[in-house]
Amino acid sequence: MKKKKVDPGKISRNAPCPCGSGKKYKHCCLNKPASPQPDDLQYAKRHRIRIKTPEQIQGIRRAGRLVIETLDLVAGHIRPGAVTEELNTLVHDFTIRRGAVPAPLNYRGFPKSVCLSINEVICHGIPGGRVLEEGDIVNVDVTSILEGYYADASQTYFVGTPGADARKIVEVARQSLAIGMETVKPGNSVGDIGYAIQSYAERQGCSVVREFVGHGVGLDFHEAPQIPHYGRPGTGVRLVPGMVFTIEPMINLGKKELVVLDDGWTAVTKDGSLSAQFEQTLVVTETGFESLTPYPL
Ligand code: MF3
Ligand code: CO
Ligand code: CO
Repeated sequence: MKKKKVDPGKISRNAPCPCGSGKKYKHCCLNKPASPQPDDLQYAKRHRIRIKTPEQIQGIRRAGRLVIETLDLVAGHIRPGAVTEELNTLVHDFTIRRGAVPAPLNYRGFPKSVCLSINEVICHGIPGGRVLEEGDIVNVDVTSILEGYYADASQTYFVGTPGADARKIVEVARQSLAIGMETVKPGNSVGDIGYAIQSYAERQGCSVVREFVGHGVGLDFHEAPQIPHYGRPGTGVRLVPGMVFTIEPMINLGKKELVVLDDGWTAVTKDGSLSAQFEQTLVVTETGFESLTPYPL
């Protein structure tokens, strides 16, 4: 996830544009929600969005298959008593053995090869001495670089038998990703994705994290555009075939506010409530989308 500075619910004209272009909102997406269809490709390129070639998409698809194999491997080791450091080693060694590189390791100083986020941890949990306990939920977020291509996906798993709150937040987070993905097709905009997710999650009495967003991915870890999981329909960049990005809603059982711990990474809910997340890497196609990190939702 990329750090986000503004809440498009209340974007000021002079704020950085939420599309991630680096320009001011008033000089960027503010007056362009209805850019005509034939201009959408040029418009995306002006926003520094790298439209991927079929060859690049194939490379990201291969990286994506490795990411899914890695998630499945970790899933088989999740149980009460598992130490997060050991799950990190599992991801690291498997990735290297397959000739790939774990993208998190040393990324902006991140010290480990996978993010493991337990219970009230929203994202960017650092593996270490913590042990999984019966009833926990744990998000496993894997990003692999294979032959120079990046793919990024995560799932939240139950440790042992979940309680009612755990079942609820994991179900709402899972559906939030599914509902966001359903909006992905040429002509729809980034704002349509966020609107669909936010309206669903809030209808369930949950809240959507604002500080971290989905992102372009494939040739780099975090590319333009940003993909907020909240927003207004018809706003922001319009989707065109060949765009590759993640959707990765972080959904809290309580309030949306977060705190980052002193380690500089671990983001936790301010109210201590449970948080869950699912993430996939998608490519926009002529008719909709294809997941490059597919798993059933
Ligand atoms: N995988 C995260 C994402 O979905 C980013 C993790 S950055 C790290 O964007 F440094 F914490 F690994
Ligand atoms: Co991501
Ligand atoms: Co991720």
